[in-house]
This record gives sequence, structure tokens and C-alpha cells, in this order.
Amino acid sequence: MSLKNVRLEVMQHLEKDVDSLIEKYLIPVEKIWQPTDFLPDSTKDSFFEEVKEIRELSKELPYDFWVVLVGDMITEEALPSYESWLMDVEGVDQIERNGWSTWLRHWTGEENRHGDVLNKYLYLSGRVNMKEIEKTTQYLINDGFDIGTGRDPYKNFVYTSFQEFATYISHNRVAKIAKQKGNKQLAKMCKIISGDEMRHHHAYSEFVERIFEVDPSQMMMAFHYMMKRKIAMPAHFLRESGESIGTAFEEFSNTAQRIGVYTANDYVDILQKLIERWKIDKITGLTDEAERARDYLMKLPPRMYRLSERMKIPENSYQFKWVEPAI
Ligand SMILES: [Fe+2]
Ligand SMILES: [Fe+2]
Repeated sequence: MSLKNVRLEVMQHLEKDVDSLIEKYLIPVEKIWQPTDFLPDSTKDSFFEEVKEIRELSKELPYDFWVVLVGDMITEEALPSYESWLMDVEGVDQIERNGWSTWLRHWTGEENRHGDVLNKYLYLSGRVNMKEIEKTTQYLINDGFDIGTGRDPYKNFVYTSFQEFATYISHNRVAKIAKQKGNKQLAKMCKIISGDEMRHHHAYSEFVERIFEVDPSQMMMAFHYMMKRKIAMPAHFLRESGESIGTAFEEFSNTAQRIGVYTANDYVDILQKLIERWKIDKITGLTDEAERARDYLMKLPPRMYRLSERMKIPENSYQFKWVEPAI
């Protein structure tokens, strides 16, 4: 049987449990938070007072902070790219309603609230140039994304396990900075987003765990492939208006490193966590090739920690069109 057919069979085998996994990891619409729970109610007279307070508190937060919040929001807003990518994965089969496509629709429904709440907050903050942000978002959706997974479900689930953890870290750190600066409302908002990301991370990690049980060698090869190639961030094609594709990503990522929201060290921490979570050192029944892949993976974190220590981040902020210059 070809590798592709084996993967399809594995996906069909796992599909039987997807309903219970949805129940375990996702929250029903009637119970989950909505963006308006964290924003001023525009039907109330108190609306203007609350907006004024948001604008006052926003002045306490530094330039780099806003750049990161904007970049995170734009990353969330490019959700159509992620949904269409994942819907095309082998075994998901978007046209048919099956367990996998139901999972993806429900996951998308949860994710969609992230960009939504951040967008509204940024709009009210008075600190950012919304039109420039909107242009970047539209560019990012136009440019699409390519994470090097192809349509392989194993590689895609490695990617999403990793990426959900990365977004957990960055929203959680943003929440911490906001709290330190006395902005409780924004802190609460980012904290609750990070909670969603953590649930999603656990779900995708369990998918991978289950694949390891039935197809260990190919799952190992997929993990190896993704880590060797490095996990590309979903917004790697980020650009500002008038610029060429991908040109804003590096400075966005430098800014996140500079304020400690997401660093090279975090990247290696996530890799290490995945290795532990999937008990990579204990997987049995591997082919020779997969054994070599395991060796490579086990040695990768120490190597990468050494590299990340040597990384230098520019000290000065980069001026984006999204945020008014630092005062
Ligand atoms: Fe998200
Ligand atoms: Fe997410």
C-alpha cells in the first residue's frame, strides 16, 4: 500500500473518535466567551466613558507592544488562509461532511473570535493606524501561506501542535505585559485567547499521539521533516502597504523577541515539550530510517539552544506604518 493510502486509512480510523475529541477540546457556542464580553457595550450610555478609559490606559503601553499586538492580530485575521489550507489536507475532504471537516469548522469558529476581539480593541485604543493594518491584513490573505507540509495530515498536525503552542506563549506574554502596565481588561482578553490556543494545542498533540500509536515510523519521519525544515510562522509573508511580500515579517519577529513575547528560545522550548509529550525517546517499532530521524530529533534541542543564545536582536525599534511613532 502506498504511504498516501496508509495515511488515508489512519485518518479514517481516527475520524471515528473526532466527535468525542471535539467535546473534549472545544467549547460549545452557548458556553464559550465572545468578543463582546471583553469590550464596551455600544448600546449602553456608559460606552463613551469605557472607550475613554481604554484610550487612557493605552497610553501606558510602549510602541513595541503595539507592534506585537497588531502583528498578532493580523496573524489571527488571516484565518481564511489557514482554514482553506487545512480543509485541503488528505483525509479532511472538505466537501463531504465528515468528522475531520466538522473538527476544522468548529476549530475555525473558535479561532475567528481571536482576530475579532483584538481588531475591535485596537480600533478603540486610538494608538494604531487601522487603515494600514487593514491593508496588511488584506495583503496577507492575498499572499496566502506555505508552511511546507503539503497535504500530508501528519506534517500538518505537527505544524498545528507547534503553532498553537507558539500562539499560546505570545498571547500569554502580551497579557502579562498588559497586566504589569495596569491594563487589566486587555490582560484578561489576551489571557483568555491564550487559553483557547492551549486547548487547541492539546487537541492537535493528541491527534499526533494517536497517529504515533498506529503508524510510528511515518509519524516520526513527518516530525523530523518539519523540524529539519523549521516551522515557518503563519505570517511569514507579512508586508506593509507599498512593500514586497514578506518584508515586514523579520522586523515584526525582532520586535516580539525584543520585548520577550516570542523568542528563539521559546521555539526550542516548544520543540522540547513536543518531544517529551510524544515520548519520542520511547517509541518502538521504528524502521531504520525512522530510528535515525528520532536520533536527529533528540539531539536537536541542545544544538538549537546553543544557536539561540548567540542570536542578536537589533536594540532599536523599527518604525512600522501600523503604529504612531513612539513618543
Ligand atoms: Fe488564535
Ligand atoms: Fe490557534
